[in-house]
Amino acid sequence: MKKIEAIIKPFKLDEVRDALSEIGIGGMTVSEVEGYGRQNGNGELHRAGEYGSDMLPKVKLEIVLTDTQVQPVLKAIVSAARTGKIGDGKVFVTRIREAVRIRTEEKGAGAL
Ligand SMILES: Nc1ncnc2c1ncn2[C@@H]1O[C@H](COP(=O)(O)OP(=O)(O)OP(=O)(O)O)[C@@H](O)[C@H]1O
Ligand SMILES: [Mg+2]
Repeated sequence: MKKIEAIIKPFKLDEVRDALSEIGIGGMTVSEVEGYGRQNGNGELHRAGEYGSDMLPKVKLEIVLTDTQVQPVLKAIVSAARTGKIGDGKVFVTRIREAVRIRTEEKGAGAL
C-alpha cells in the first residue's frame, strides 16, 4: 500500500475529485492547509485578491491505495490539478505498513 498526499489549489478540488471517482477511487481525507513553495508565497494571487508574501491556502488530499493504483491516480491528479501557473502544488508518495477498517476489523488492502 502507498499513501498519496497531494497539495493542490483549492479551486481544483472538485475537478480532482471527479477525476478520481472516474477511475474508481473512493475514500480520501481532505484538509484545508496553508503553505508555500519555492517562491515563498510570492507571485500567487491571494484570497484578498492581492499579490504578497505570506502563507497561501491550499487543499491537501490524502489517499491510501494499493501499489497498482498509484500511477493512474498520480496521472489523474496531475492532469486535473494543473493550470501551468506557479503554485499548482505537489504530490508525495509514501509507503503504508498497515490499514484497519474499524467496523469490520479487515486489515491490509482489504481494509481500503
Ligand atoms: N518541499 C515541500 N514540502 C512540503 N510541502 C511542500 C513542498 N513544496 C511545496 N509544498 C506545498 O505545496 C504547495 C504548493 O507548492 P508549489 O506548487 O508552489 O511548489 P513550487 O515548488 O513552488 O512549484 P511552482 O514553481 O510551480 O510554484 C505549497 O503551498 C506547500 O503547501
Ligand atoms: Mg510555488
